[in-house]
Amino acid sequence: MSPATQAESLRQIIRRHEHLYYVLDAPEISDQEYDVLMRQLQKLEQEHPEVVTPDSPTVRVGGKAREGFRKAAHSSQMLSLENALDEGELRAFDARVRELLSGEPYRYVAELKMDGLSMAARFRDGRFEMAITRGDGSIGEEVTENARTIRSLPLRIENGDSLSDEPFEVRGEVVMNHKAFQRLNLEREKNDLTRFANPRNAAAGSLRLLEPGVTAARRLDYYAYFLFGEDGRTLFDSHWDSLEWLTAHGFMVNPRRQICLTADDALAFCREWELQRQALAYEIDGVVLKVDSIVQQRALGYTAKAPRWAIAFKYAAKQESTEVLDISVQVGRTGALTPVAHLAPVFVSGVTVSRATLHNEDEIGRLGLQIGDTVIIERSGDVIPKVVRVKMQGTHRKPFQMPRECPVCGGEIVREEGEAASRCINLNCPARLKESIGHFASRGVMNIDGLGDAIIEQLVDSGMVKSVADLYSLTGDQIMSLERMGQKSAANILRNIDRSRDLPLPRVISSLGIRFVGERTAELLAEHFGSMEALADASVEDLQQAQEVGPKVAESISAFFREHHNRELIDRLKAASLTFEHTIKRVKDGPLQGLTFVLTGTLPTLTRDEAKQQIEIRGGKVTASVSKKTSYVVAGAEAGSKLDKAVELNLKVIGEPELLELFAAG
Ligand code: IVH
Repeated sequence: MSPATQAESLRQIIRRHEHLYYVLDAPEISDQEYDVLMRQLQKLEQEHPEVVTPDSPTVRVGGKAREGFRKAAHSSQMLSLENALDEGELRAFDARVRELLSGEPYRYVAELKMDGLSMAARFRDGRFEMAITRGDGSIGEEVTENARTIRSLPLRIENGDSLSDEPFEVRGEVVMNHKAFQRLNLEREKNDLTRFANPRNAAAGSLRLLEPGVTAARRLDYYAYFLFGEDGRTLFDSHWDSLEWLTAHGFMVNPRRQICLTADDALAFCREWELQRQALAYEIDGVVLKVDSIVQQRALGYTAKAPRWAIAFKYAAKQESTEVLDISVQVGRTGALTPVAHLAPVFVSGVTVSRATLHNEDEIGRLGLQIGDTVIIERSGDVIPKVVRVKMQGTHRKPFQMPRECPVCGGEIVREEGEAASRCINLNCPARLKESIGHFASRGVMNIDGLGDAIIEQLVDSGMVKSVADLYSLTGDQIMSLERMGQKSAANILRNIDRSRDLPLPRVISSLGIRFVGERTAELLAEHFGSMEALADASVEDLQQAQEVGPKVAESISAFFREHHNRELIDRLKAASLTFEHTIKRVKDGPLQGLTFVLTGTLPTLTRDEAKQQIEIRGGKVTASVSKKTSYVVAGAEAGSKLDKAVELNLKVIGEPELLELFAAG
């Protein structure tokens, strides 16, 4: 037998056992026997590298580390679902379906709504080709290598038939089961790493790791719930049949599904699993109902956000009671003190909860809460657990007192009239500084990828960074000296810091973290004042001349720039060559001269104003409504009626990547 044939026959055997083990949960051989087969294949592939194929089971252990993820466009929008929060909303959904189908009989498929993250997987010639995370629905991250390590995702279609030879796409949920989640958190605790809050965050974090080898060790699962052919072609007459086909060809489809003929049947299914969900190996947050017939799905169509033929019945937040052991305070970016309840750990819908935010002093008053009381807490989805009410007063209860001094720096605490929050007023308070840097570096602000909490913590604690301006004089050696920092990541951080110098003025304004000044206000301020200096020198009256700036916002901005430390910061950021001028000057004969653009929906990285500015700088025009004269419609997530109109008029529709290409070409 040639090495190639030998390898292929080994692969077939291994694939079969993987399917038996990971998908069907019914192994026929022991783990050791499986390891022996795998080793044989690995050895063969090492000796004859020419026989290695991209769908070989050996790739499941994860290949080389990578720098980052490429963005990739979805073949069609990955929509989310409308929610039904109670029986009434579910019945209303059913009534709407009935009405829209004007009396035709119809039926639903009820499936569990697994709580993970959705991922599209594309197949060609019966082989797995590419995986993309949901992202903003239009554009996600290409995570092919990491997806390959998920054992329940077939790399090659089993029992191939004529359908599986055609290109097709599967959509489904990447989840981490409770066992894998608990093992991971235990291990992280041992290594002094922060725990993941819930299995969904753990799954998302694991899928987006730069080292596929580590993803492989995280043991993710992939449940398929949707199938379609090239160009959105439907392959079956009913959704149920497509799930059966997926099952028969090696995919893991949740077996807990049911045909429901009436809303009553559907509700019974929802109630049944609400009671039984604790017994499942993974987290669910509801039930998804889908109209089974594809023809009827077509007839029902889509709203801008979601299909009209499906709904997610969400389970109510789980409540538990536990004791408040203590109340501590955290200091945020604006210096605001947030009281946090430390709880005797309780298990609430799949997660151990030991802390809950209490927001502010007034909230504690409203709850009538004291240390030692037993409280009801609630957790819904990824929301931070909250204290709902006091269930029973503790026998040795102790009232909470807001500290007079900042627990981090010892600075003065002030609670201003009419404000709920008490604040530390020391601008150099390390807690405030860490939060400010976090805000400064975040996406949508200065975009310094790689500068996460753990690194900021070290930069501040070591004294290397005493102000955000210090980031711009950091050296590679300084970053390299931090714990667990590799050369590549250090270079990456430096590069991202450097790049941030070129971001437009609105970003720099919002990076300052002035109260009430978010992305939009920053944009309007930049437009109105034209430069950082003009903004910094503006009086409260001047400021109120800008669009959407009222007395409260004006006063906050003015107070910020009156503060001597902040002036110093501005000077230093200028010296570091950040963008201080607002440049929108339409270039007469720029490369986009004569072209008209319409923007719709949310783009993955550019704000709408930035996209507009970039188009105008190159001589293009941006208009609000779509017409025959429109050259391009740039569509992002949740694009609405403008996109429909563009399709109707047969206009060119592009996404952000194509827009960026147009920019680069010019
Ligand atoms: S169907 C157009 N089925 O829930 C079809 N979604 O809120 C849209 N999810 O983004 C999805 N289990 O990540 C579908 N059995 C299931 C699901 C499911 C979990 C997630 C999915 C989706 C979100 C919608």
